[in-house]
Amino acid sequence: MNVKKEPEGGLLISPIRDGTVIDHITGGEALVVLRILGITGTTDESLSVATNVESRISGSKDIVKISNRELSKEEVDRIALLAPEATINIIRDYRVFEKMKVEIPKSVTGFVRCPNPGCITNSNEPVESSFETKRGKLQCIYCDAIISENIAEYII
Ligand code: CTP
Ligand code: ZN
Repeated sequence: MNVKKEPEGGLLISPIRDGTVIDHITGGEALVVLRILGITGTTDESLSVATNVESRISGSKDIVKISNRELSKEEVDRIALLAPEATINIIRDYRVFEKMKVEIPKSVTGFVRCPNPGCITNSNEPVESSFETKRGKLQCIYCDAIISENIAEYII
């Protein structure tokens, strides 16, 4: 048997019955995706994570499988900022019920911190942060500061 012809990840983690599979995450970024979803050290969710799996498309990729949970739109948007190549698969009764490519939203409000300490969104004023997204970069709508790399560090 030619092992390379096995489905990607198929040898590493078992299929799930119901839930969400986030596939094609950039190699090494699965843990960031978990943090974005609010899944930290103590969790009662049933999770499988595979990192740096060989991928026929992109060299290496990570996969996260979360049983008994389907992600909300905001959660998918957060993932899109970090893992624009990711695919979200909703699994029902062992089958892929829905497959979505994540899409970077045109603007993100409330969950990214502006890097400019002088920005009104970092003051005591009750102003929520808000950014426009342009070609993978985020621009603050208040002070024009740009986040072009390490977006994960700014996600609240
Ligand atoms: N998967 C799973 N449990 C299931 C069904 C699928 O964990 N009951 C996982 C697969 O292992 C894969 C992802 O969900 O990581 C998508 O499944 P599928 O569409 O069958 O795989 P591919 O065709 O390889 O997906 P793609 O074309 O998006 O790469
Ligand atoms: Zn700002």
